[in-house]
Parts: sequence; C-alpha cells; structure tokens
Amino acid sequence: MKTLFNLLVNPGQVARYQNHSVKKLYWKSAKFLSPFEVHKREKAALQLSNPKVLEDINPKIGASFQNSKSVIALTKKAVDESWHIIKQTDLNITKSKSYLKPLLSKDDIKIQSAITNLAISDELLSVVTNYLGIFPILYYINIWFTPGKENQNEYQGSQLFHLDHEDYKQLKVFIYLNDMEIDHGPTQYISAENSKEYVLRFSYNTKQQNKNIPDSQLTKYKKIVHLGKKGSIVLMDTSNCFHCGGRSKKDRFLLVFQYLTPFAFVKKSYQDRRLLHLLKSRELSTSFKRFAI
Ligand SMILES: [Fe+2]
Repeated sequence: MKTLFNLLVNPGQVARYQNHSVKKLYWKSAKFLSPFEVHKREKAALQLSNPKVLEDINPKIGASFQNSKSVIALTKKAVDESWHIIKQTDLNITKSKSYLKPLLSKDDIKIQSAITNLAISDELLSVVTNYLGIFPILYYINIWFTPGKENQNEYQGSQLFHLDHEDYKQLKVFIYLNDMEIDHGPTQYISAENSKEYVLRFSYNTKQQNKNIPDSQLTKYKKIVHLGKKGSIVLMDTSNCFHCGGRSKKDRFLLVFQYLTPFAFVKKSYQDRRLLHLLKSRELSTSFKRFAI
C-alpha cells in the first residue's frame, strides 16, 4: 500500500531502488511524457557552441580522462579559485564521512565565480549534453577534501565500489586540484560495458544493503584509474560505471560538478541541491539563464 502511494506521488523515488530494466523503463517513459521539457532543452542544446576542447565520451567506457594543455588552461582559473577557498577553510571540520569532506556550503557557490563559470561553460556543457542526450541540470558543485590516512584497514561507504542512485544516467566531473598520484586515492572505476554485465547478471540495485560491493566480487573486471596533473578532468557516468574513491594515503582535493537529466529519480526530494538559488539571482548571466528552463 505504501509503495503504491509512493508510486503515485513520487514514482522516481520508487524507481531509483529497482533493477536496471525498471529504471530504464521509468526514465524512458518520463522522457516520452515530457515533450515540452525535451523541446526546451533541444533549443538550449542548439545554442551551445562546440569549442572542441574536450573530447566526447565513449559510451562503452562511460568515462573519459582529459589532460591536454588546452584542458589545463580551461580549468586554471577555477583551480586557482578553489585553492583560494581551501586556504581560508578549516580542514579539521567534522563531516559525516571522515574520508570525504565537502568544503562548500550552498551559499559559498556564487554566480560570478571561476568555478561556476567553468561548470556552465560551453566546453563542458557540449560534452555533457552529447553524452546524456539532453541539455542537463547542473545539480551539484563542491570541493571535496579527503584527508590522507596511511593505514586503512577497512573501507566503508563510497570507498567501496557502487553505482550512484540519482539518475538513470548522469555525469560527475572531477577536476584534480592536486597532481594525482596513486597515493592520493584517485577514483577507480569499471567501464560501463563491464559494469552493465555485472548489473544484469546479479540484478544489482542501489538499495542501501545492496549498494556497496566488496572488491572480491569484482576481481574479473579491469579497474581503471587516471593519474595526472593538477587541472586534469575526469568525466564519469557514476550511474553506470562502478566506482569508488577516497582510498587516500595522501590528502586529496577535487573540484566536483554533477549533471543530471530532467528525468532524474531524485528530482523532487533533493530540490534544494539543484542550485536553484543561483537561478533566482538578479545578476544572472546570459550563460546561466540557460539553466532557468
Ligand atoms: Fe559514487
């Protein structure tokens, strides 16, 4: 009865915990039933220039590492601004996850900032739109700090391999704020193709008790990790690539953006995280207005 009620009131909340086929059916139906939404976003996508700084993502892999000179130049101002913020922040703050401390509160994210400008740049949006197949919702911006810990006996939460639950497909963008070596604990992932095989074979879902998987169950799949210079970018479909992070022996800093589709499972329950406050700003730039749809 409760499930039936939830299904009527907020079907996305029900679909997010189901298996792959149900999630796919929900997402495709939501898209089919929203022609106006799709049309608005098609128009927004058409207005994007295609600067060709970032390469498109191969859907079989579901992720991409980009570290060309022009990419490092693209991210430089946002990286510098992030470090300006980090230096003014008390890194000893206690957060719910000891291995992942988001350093920005909602009010720290300003409309006129290098970080926001990068998140809404045509360079990123064109790649994200191409991959998701629709002009996205910018859902989350933050700086993540993972304190280095030399001896880690047991991993927990997102330190274990999992899929993210927010959408049928999504992109997280990780911008390296320090040169990333293996000891910094860069995000490890398994290609979308291999991840799907596991999902279908074991009817994987993101219910709390099933979400995180021990490494021992994934030994047959290749783990991918990208080491690289400060300013490098990793784009990853964390709904479709098993991933884990924060296994850091040395301090790790990341600038993180998250893009969802308008048919995300979490759309209603997490509205305050959708950066709506920025859209209400009086000084809204033309480029940010594109999100006010
Ligand atoms: Fe995750």
